[in-house]
Amino acid sequence: MSLLGRATFPPMHIHVADHPLIAHKLTLLRDERTDSPTFRRLADELVTLLAYEAMREVRTQQVTVRTPVAEAQGRQLSAPKPLVVPILRAGLGMLEGMQRLLPTAEVGFLGMIRDEATLRASTYAERLPDDLSGRQCYLLDPMLATGGTLSAAIEFLVRRGADQVTAICLLAAPEGIARVERDVAGLSVPFVLVTAGLDERLDDRGYIVPGLGDAGDRLYGVV
Ligand code: URA
Repeated sequence: MSLLGRATFPPMHIHVADHPLIAHKLTLLRDERTDSPTFRRLADELVTLLAYEAMREVRTQQVTVRTPVAEAQGRQLSAPKPLVVPILRAGLGMLEGMQRLLPTAEVGFLGMIRDEATLRASTYAERLPDDLSGRQCYLLDPMLATGGTLSAAIEFLVRRGADQVTAICLLAAPEGIARVERDVAGLSVPFVLVTAGLDERLDDRGYIVPGLGDAGDRLYGVV
């Protein structure tokens, strides 16, 4: 059975975690008393649980293997390999948890920054293949807040040719979901969001309420 409940907001699909173990870890993650090493470990474990569900649509092909007894039909990940893309900086804290489940995936990096005047997100760093044709891409970003960064990242991947994008976020705010939903509606590529929790709202600083604070700071300390 699925680990996660499924809600559909066409044209994007949203999976919100509905599992006691995910709820338990998320509650510890939110707690302001949780220190950085524990926060990193919990985020890592949560990502592995979320990645399990996010991989439900990963493409596979039929293969034949020989067991010690006989031939068996099975499935293996198809080529081209899925591409995992953490959004810098906080998405890096999710990478190991993802790689644990999908060790053969390739990894690209995307650095996004928001212009505080225009509120538009743009790319300041990228290390990705030029051609993503036929690739399934898995974006890692812990907090879907205003949605500007995630929308820009999805658009970036689709422009490079990605034909399916899934984002794994620890938490999401309704405002961010609405923004991404509006923005991806113009892209003819399926988009799936997998998250451990859908929170109430954003505050006037753009923080998710109740959220967990600044994910980057809690992972890596304030810089
Ligand atoms: N980014 C964070 O790290 N936390 C929030 O609550 C919103 C955006």
